[in-house]
Amino acid sequence: MEKNIKFPVIDLSKLNGEERDQTMALIDHACQNWGFFELVNHGLPYDLMDNIERMTKEHYKKHMEQKFKEMLRSKGLDTLETEVQDVDWESTFYLRHLPQSNLYDIPDMSNEYRLAMKDFGKMVENLAEDLLDLLCENLGLEKGYLKKVFHGTTGPTFGTKVSNYPPCPKPEMIKGLRAHTDAGGLILLFQDDKVSGLQLLKDGDWVDVPPLKHSIVINLGDQLEVITNGKYKSVMHRVMTQKEGNRMSIASFYNPGSDAEISPATSLVEKDSKYPSFVFDDYMKLYAGLKFQAKEPRFEAMKNAEAAANLNPIAAVETF
Ligand code: OGA
Ligand code: NI
Repeated sequence: MEKNIKFPVIDLSKLNGEERDQTMALIDHACQNWGFFELVNHGLPYDLMDNIERMTKEHYKKHMEQKFKEMLRSKGLDTLETEVQDVDWESTFYLRHLPQSNLYDIPDMSNEYRLAMKDFGKMVENLAEDLLDLLCENLGLEKGYLKKVFHGTTGPTFGTKVSNYPPCPKPEMIKGLRAHTDAGGLILLFQDDKVSGLQLLKDGDWVDVPPLKHSIVINLGDQLEVITNGKYKSVMHRVMTQKEGNRMSIASFYNPGSDAEISPATSLVEKDSKYPSFVFDDYMKLYAGLKFQAKEPRFEAMKNAEAAANLNPIAAVETF
């Protein structure tokens, strides 16, 4: 209980006043100790958020619920006799905004819903870029450093995962989403203000991320851990299923572009870094099969790949 009370909630509007320094310090503390924080007064319009919540719930009822129920039947999840470890109890679809939008390829969205998602995407993208600069300031990196690293040659990858976690008759048998760290950069989550379920791992305990109306939950992905040389951490999180209520979550991922070169920032490395350097897409290929495992072996595997790549010129000489 006590841990819930301490969960970092940050009033972003205080950045414009005399509490700027304390607010920056709270953000830094959250990035170092939680990998998560919840923003209020972030500037995203509440009426847009309300519309999106309403339309997401309507869209689920109208176009997704039936498919979800069929999925349960086809995977034998409608009876849940024993614990299930390899499937998640969620209904999702993905919108990509950058580098190219797929908004008009997604079936069954009303024009109003599409336009709201487009506006929301743009605003969340701007918020993500503002936050990256706040992180730079706290890290002593020049303004624009993180944005530039994420840019690669084609700009960042930015997308939104729209999820519903429907009520589950036996929550102890299956997770809404199994524990993982996020692979990318910055994640900005608009979550249901009533139905809870998101938890993060803090000092060995699972801690609730409390629902808070009109807030945006921020968390850091593996790439920020690598770039900050471990000063900031990506943190394990999961979604629990609930007996009552359908939990909505709209998670936007501000990630590096596929050819972005990721490595620890030199100014944050004292001697050698324990983190690898790599091209973001190579990390994503590895992550695809290892998402629900610890991040450390992924970092190790990328280090080995880096070492192997460094050997390549020699191998080439020997082969030819
Ligand atoms: C994710 C995730 C949390 C949520 O999609 O990576 O952690 O609340 N989602 O949907
Ligand atoms: Ni996640």
